[in-house]
Amino acid sequence: RNGSLPHPPYRVPVLGDIVGVDPRTPIQDSTVLAGRLGPMFEREILGRRFVFASGADVVGELCDEKRFEKFLPPGVENLRDIGADGLFTAYSHEPNWQRAHDLLRPAFTAGAMRGYHEIMVDVADDLIEHWEGRSRNRAGTDVSSDMTKLTLETIGRTGFSYSFGSFARAEPHPFVAAMVGALTYNQRRSLLSIPAFAKPLFARSDRRYADNKQYLADVLADVVRTRRRSTEEFSDLLQIMMDAAKDADNPNALSEANIGYQILTFLIAGHETTSGALSFALYYLANNPEVFERARAEVDEVWGTGKPQFGQVPKLRYVRRVLDESLRLWPTVPAFGRGARADTVIGDDYRMAAGDWAVVLVTALHRDPVWGERPNDFDPDNFLPDRIKARPAHVYKPFGTGERACIGRQFAIHEAVLVLGTILQRFDLQADPSYRLKVQERLTMMPDGFRVQPTIRA
Ligand code: HEM
Repeated sequence: RNGSLPHPPYRVPVLGDIVGVDPRTPIQDSTVLAGRLGPMFEREILGRRFVFASGADVVGELCDEKRFEKFLPPGVENLRDIGADGLFTAYSHEPNWQRAHDLLRPAFTAGAMRGYHEIMVDVADDLIEHWEGRSRNRAGTDVSSDMTKLTLETIGRTGFSYSFGSFARAEPHPFVAAMVGALTYNQRRSLLSIPAFAKPLFARSDRRYADNKQYLADVLADVVRTRRRSTEEFSDLLQIMMDAAKDADNPNALSEANIGYQILTFLIAGHETTSGALSFALYYLANNPEVFERARAEVDEVWGTGKPQFGQVPKLRYVRRVLDESLRLWPTVPAFGRGARADTVIGDDYRMAAGDWAVVLVTALHRDPVWGERPNDFDPDNFLPDRIKARPAHVYKPFGTGERACIGRQFAIHEAVLVLGTILQRFDLQADPSYRLKVQERLTMMPDGFRVQPTIRA
């Protein structure tokens, strides 16, 4: 055992720090604990030890790529059952990680976003049409559900030229329910090691998981089949991978199985997180009238009443700050793992042997005292350039860190700013004043039950 750390007060033999553990809210519970136990602490649950780091100094050390690398904590490692050595769930030493990274990186540069812009505008138009109907019928709408439709449609059409027909459905495509079921199953199972005699108790949820997994595989097969049948020309992510696979000289060619894992990875990683980010940003916009008006004034000035051109999206500096600040308070990927490359000491005296790992608790890092005296308050001006410069490095990590940081960062930002700008340009938003923010954890974070009444702007 490598040094002791503060832990919750009521530790029980065998079960560990089980008092007060709610399998539905591990991140929010750990964030509260971070406030009490300090920058590094541990939780032991059924014999499994989780070390959490949330202080600006220790996280700064964990982000040093020379000393630490991405680590797959149990909740992410379990996802290899779905994603295998796809980009998100690959170990850094697996050859397919480097290959896929090198092959797909050019499709995610800031300039490459130009190629996705028109599709993103088209999908935003689908949302507008849907909300215009809601406005006319005076019917409120569930924000997370609509944002999930929008982001799944966007990654489907941009990455794979595949439409899920999301806006023609009352609920998001069944792909989403199967994905959420599979993500939460793996996350909750990572907290439990079930002894053989207790396995029958879990047979039903195991069966449901098998069904969900099969459904995801069916969607994946349909994406590939649709492409193989088509005679059109494509230049999307799928085509990049398929062309490389046919090119014997391409060192980054991926196998058919691995292409499948990449498709699932992008369909999941490419929509769920951005949907949450948009939903939280809309929550704050709808509940902060001054912020809303300032953001709208910027859209009116920069975009006017027309459709946004590609170059006009990054000019919405204030809207971008609203997004950044929403991702500060609710980083939709709330934690990531870091493993020591060699024996080392972090913080004052916490020893880690090579291979030991810690979870960076981004939710708590983003409310560290470096964020000022009222870190829980929503204030987009936290992202004014002067304030950014005045803070230490590595205190804002919604997109992870180092070489395994999010490949889709520019994509998510372009899409989210474009959609927020479009909504501000067209609609007034009325939130239910009695709604208190409730956050659902399903590996990512998402507002639960947040509804708005959109009204076409007078
Ligand atoms: C990795 C966050 C949007 C694709 C990551 C990681 C984070 C993250 C924190 C690193 C995880 C770790 O260290 O274990 C987010 C957030 C998003 C977002 C907050 C939206 C607001 C996207 C989009 C795509 C995407 C739009 C694709 C179009 C990926 C992939 C990886 C990744 C493939 C794995 C990269 C690698 O390991 O090489 N993301 N992401 N993400 N993200 Fe995102």
